[in-house]
Amino acid sequence: MKVWTVANQKGGVGKTTTTVSLGGLLAQQGKRVLMIDTDPHASLSYYFGIDAEASSHSVYDIFINFNNLTADKVMDCLSPTKIDNLYVLPATMALATLDRTMGSEQGMGLVLKKALAKIYDEFDVAIIDCPPVLGVLMVNALAACNKVIVPTQTEYLALKGLDRMIRTMEIMGRSLDKTFDTIIIPTMFDKRTNAALASRKRLMSDYGERVWHGVIPVDTHFRDASLIQLPISAAYPKTRGVTAYSKLLKVLEK
Ligand SMILES: Nc1ncnc2c1ncn2[C@@H]1O[C@H](COP(=O)(O)OP(=O)(O)OP(=O)(O)O)[C@@H](O)[C@H]1O
Ligand SMILES: [Mg+2]
Repeated sequence: MKVWTVANQKGGVGKTTTTVSLGGLLAQQGKRVLMIDTDPHASLSYYFGIDAEASSHSVYDIFINFNNLTADKVMDCLSPTKIDNLYVLPATMALATLDRTMGSEQGMGLVLKKALAKIYDEFDVAIIDCPPVLGVLMVNALAACNKVIVPTQTEYLALKGLDRMIRTMEIMGRSLDKTFDTIIIPTMFDKRTNAALASRKRLMSDYGERVWHGVIPVDTHFRDASLIQLPISAAYPKTRGVTAYSKLLKVLEK
């Protein structure tokens, strides 16, 4: 199983959209895909119409039971989507309490990694969607992954947020004794605006090799797809957004 984490401490930059779009494309290729929602706002879960509040089948239950996880218990927490091979490990609001209640317990940073190890052979790719805050959930997502995808909106303020995210990964990398394979993705790119062009140029000059050479364009089909609870590639296959994420996927799979 490959594990990819989609993270940026800045909100609204396209993390959840990236998770869903890549997950949809991979599942349509026949890969078995698990998307993990670690955001207490549960945007990814709601995208697919999953409300985990009522059940005890969510990422929260994995954290609560972290001392006696089994493959069956982890698999029990997953929800299917309308797409074959595409599953969600949903989030609940209770996740917001984890930092306070369990954040300092020994081993809490490795819960997700251990849970994924239990179901290693069940999926080809796991994609972890992070909340826009640094806390125990993002720490878990970073510790569990082989690759970090950092969507960055092509506008000035978002570049500031990226600075913080890169520093977080440097600090985390030192404490976990690993270097992150990082790819920065320019998102919501509107080629007609000078601000977008200037910030892409700035990204390239500040972060060089780590920046993906393509861009994810602004495309209203992303929002339309979310309204019918489908990844964009299933809802509107012939759109600029799908073409862009397909190109990105080729690079990620290399
Ligand atoms: N390339 C795009 N073109 C147009 N709209 C987009 C694009 N990417 C994302 N959006 C829209 O922008 C909004 C925010 O995107 P998304 O939820 O993916 O960001 P996020 O980083 O996950 O936000 P949060 O930090 O709140 O979790 C959504 O309404 C989404 O449909
Ligand atoms: Mg999100």
